[in-house]
Amino acid sequence: MLHICLVESGLELVPKEISKHPLIRRYAKKRGKKPSKVLLDISFHYHAMKNLKDFNKRGRPDIVHFCLLEALGSPLNKMALLRIYVHTYDGKVVFIDPSTRIPKNYIRFVGLMEQLLDKGKVPPNSSSPLLWIREMSVKDLIGHVKPGTVILLDEKGKKMSVHELAKKFPIGDNPLILIGGFQRGNISQEIREQADYIVSIFKETLETWIVISRILCAYEHIYTA
Ligand SMILES: C[S@@+](CC[C@H](N)C(=O)[O-])C[C@H]1O[C@@H](n2cnc3c(N)ncnc32)[C@H](O)[C@@H]1O
Repeated sequence: MLHICLVESGLELVPKEISKHPLIRRYAKKRGKKPSKVLLDISFHYHAMKNLKDFNKRGRPDIVHFCLLEALGSPLNKMALLRIYVHTYDGKVVFIDPSTRIPKNYIRFVGLMEQLLDKGKVPPNSSSPLLWIREMSVKDLIGHVKPGTVILLDEKGKKMSVHELAKKFPIGDNPLILIGGFQRGNISQEIREQADYIVSIFKETLETWIVISRILCAYEHIYTA
């Protein structure tokens, strides 16, 4: 099984520090929700969030949306060879049943994530939910998954093509690949310390969804032929 975790992803409800900001209150009112129950989104909340710590890493649920569509619809997932997790900036891990169909429409995706972050699982009353949350660090997740190897992807890592990477870390060894689920900035030292290898797949910085699609393709090429 290949395990992929988006780390420090910009997926969180509006934090307390800015829930009283007029822009957030207006936005929440328009959506008929409490300010603390709407998803932080830099496209709508830039002026309210620009003084938040690490604001460049936050408020990007669209990155998670793209990546989940890419991963859950992939041949690797359809062949039951993939598990994808979302670790959030504020220290939670979203677990995802591989059969989950993520809404393709972004507005519906936002509603789903708001329900998940508010209630802790989706559907909220199910004993076998499709999505559920645990307060967990990446280190805790590693303890839970028990991967053979932890590979962190970073533009400043050791250069390796995606094909070399997929060969070097075979799917049978349960590799866990960590990819930053944010727009700008670096993966924190605490997470870097968990990696056995730090690998760069290209000489420039790539968007998270491009990285995930190349990794999936490389593993599919070798292990689903
Ligand atoms: C958009 S990048 C993060 C921001 C980037 N560090 C910056 O400051 O512009 C998202 C993630 O994709 C992965 N990534 C981006 N480019 C990469 C590359 N060339 N090789 C390996 N991983 C890469 C890393 O995991 C990174 O954290």
